[in-house]
Amino acid sequence: MSKELIRLRDLCMAYDDELVLDHLNLYINDKEFLTLLGPSGCGKTTTLRIIGGFTTPGSGDVLFDGVRINDVPPYKRQINTVFQKYALFPHLNVFENVAFGLRMQRKPDPANPRRKVKLPEEEIRERVLEMLEAVSLKGFENRRTDALSGGQQQRVAIARALVNRPKVLLLDEPLGALDLKLRKDMQIELKRIQQQVGITFIYVTHDQEEALTMSDTIVVMDKGSIQQIGTPEDIYNEPKNAFVADFIGESNIIDGIMVRDQLVQLYGRQFPCLDSGFAPSEPVDVVIRPEDIDIVPVEQGQLTGTVTNVTFKGMQYDIIVDFRGFKWLIQTTDHSPVGARIGIKIDPDGIHVMKKSRYSGLYGDYSSFSDEYDELDAVEPEEGGDEA
Ligand SMILES: Nc1ncnc2c1ncn2[C@@H]1O[C@H](COP(=O)(O)OP(=O)(O)OP(=O)(O)O)[C@@H](O)[C@H]1O
Ligand SMILES: [Mg+2]
Repeated sequence: MSKELIRLRDLCMAYDDELVLDHLNLYINDKEFLTLLGPSGCGKTTTLRIIGGFTTPGSGDVLFDGVRINDVPPYKRQINTVFQKYALFPHLNVFENVAFGLRMQRKPDPANPRRKVKLPEEEIRERVLEMLEAVSLKGFENRRTDALSGGQQQRVAIARALVNRPKVLLLDEPLGALDLKLRKDMQIELKRIQQQVGITFIYVTHDQEEALTMSDTIVVMDKGSIQQIGTPEDIYNEPKNAFVADFIGESNIIDGIMVRDQLVQLYGRQFPCLDSGFAPSEPVDVVIRPEDIDIVPVEQGQLTGTVTNVTFKGMQYDIIVDFRGFKWLIQTTDHSPVGARIGIKIDPDGIHVMKKSRYSGLYGDYSSFSDEYDELDAVEPEEGGDEA
């Protein structure tokens, strides 16, 4: 069903001797919603600009439908872009903003195919109204664009890009300027538009929640390299390394040793897990999500620790628990007060084992989170040994 539409082959890009894209390899399927996700400066916009034809890569190829398009200028690619600062024309109304691209177009004259003529007014009108309907702006044709809300302006920008019927739409942090509530609404709206129009979206964001909500495929990038490609579920449940685990959602990342297949050792204790394929006694990074930890009476715990901080979050409590000096985040609906000794249990499927990487040891400890709260609350951390 899914057919490859775009392929990036071994893309490298450097600015002033600094490598900003480091051998990027990626394919994008037709009608896919693919998101480039990563921290500021990781190369998302650069990648998007190369696909759009606004930047020429230092080396490597861009293929469209199997054809190399490195030298094809932007306006000849079947690709349109919605930039973060989507400049609408303030002197034109909504209809004319969307119609703009169509008024520029010429097509062969049916009477004399060697001559080029403007699109007929009737066709322009039909296509603009169809697009306005798709972005839920029917009836707004005559409105000035400065008399629209941020979300409505954003939808005009999207209609304007889609009316040319590109095969691919590139969107660079298009919701960055909107407030949180509108952002959430527009995420759902964008996904709906993409499915209704049935085209490929390549979307850039540094917001992991946004990426998880909208994407078919997420590409996690750091420092010009792809760290992982997968569905939102893959990326969340099976992060490849500590960087991905930390960037997507909240994660406790603990040093472990793989005893054998499906058995990992943490803090000298053995925990059944589902992972296999590691060498005997291989050192590993172990991810345990805060929501996968059950609090149990101390005597039943696989580990025991001391609560050092509690934050009420509405749906749940975020509690920080000290296990021999390493602080974990646990999300729970049960209240455990600061200073309480608790036991925890983790089901085998709540444990995810990863290979050691250059990101090992950099992420996944909640000590600083806890310290900040400790200072705010002036709560003395509990003294006393922890015989986990
Ligand atoms: N025209 C340029 N000249 C020099 N350096 C550049 C240029 N464009 C981008 N860079 C650098 O390349 C790196 C990647 O930039 P890019 O804009 O692709 O990042 P990004 O992932 O989109 O970040 P953000 O989330 O902040 O938009 C950055 O270090 C940036 O400073
Ligand atoms: Mg950017």
